[in-house]
Amino acid sequence: MTIDFTLNGKAQHVQIRSGDRLVYVLQKLGDFPSLVPDCLSGNCGHCLVFMDSRLIYSCITPAFKAKDTSIVTYEGFSKTDECKDIVHALTEAAAFPCDFCYKAKVLMIAELLERIPMPEPAQILEQLDIVSCTCTDPVSLTEAITLAAEARNKRKFKRANK
Ligand code: FES
Ligand code: FES
Repeated sequence: MTIDFTLNGKAQHVQIRSGDRLVYVLQKLGDFPSLVPDCLSGNCGHCLVFMDSRLIYSCITPAFKAKDTSIVTYEGFSKTDECKDIVHALTEAAAFPCDFCYKAKVLMIAELLERIPMPEPAQILEQLDIVSCTCTDPVSLTEAITLAAEARNKRKFKRANK
């Protein structure tokens, strides 16, 4: 079967088989260091992408579900102001996720701030579960997310009042 979708803004026309996992289809379409499928069970988060602005584990998503959607990987998202806010906030709060989960955590934070512009600590803790990790301090991550939210809201306010 053939499906069409956009990947980081570029149109794709791709031949897939019915059992294909989306992550492997995406890997064949370009160089995406953010996609490092590991657990293949929706746990580690090393395959997270946005599909129509919703965060999904591409390892457990059948490729046919991508039909007519817009997919954005970390590589596409990294060009946005929202990404820069988050990266800056992680540094400011001295929250240093490891190389394995850094990109997944940035996407996880981005999705939270898109849904909830200023999340409460309990909402942040719930969101952290998306990327399995027992080694980053939740306190510094919570601080980073709050800083990123403030920066994002300030930028949006400025834009709206230009
Ligand atoms: S590889 Fe998809 S969540 Fe681990
Ligand atoms: S898995 Fe990356 S910091 Fe825990």
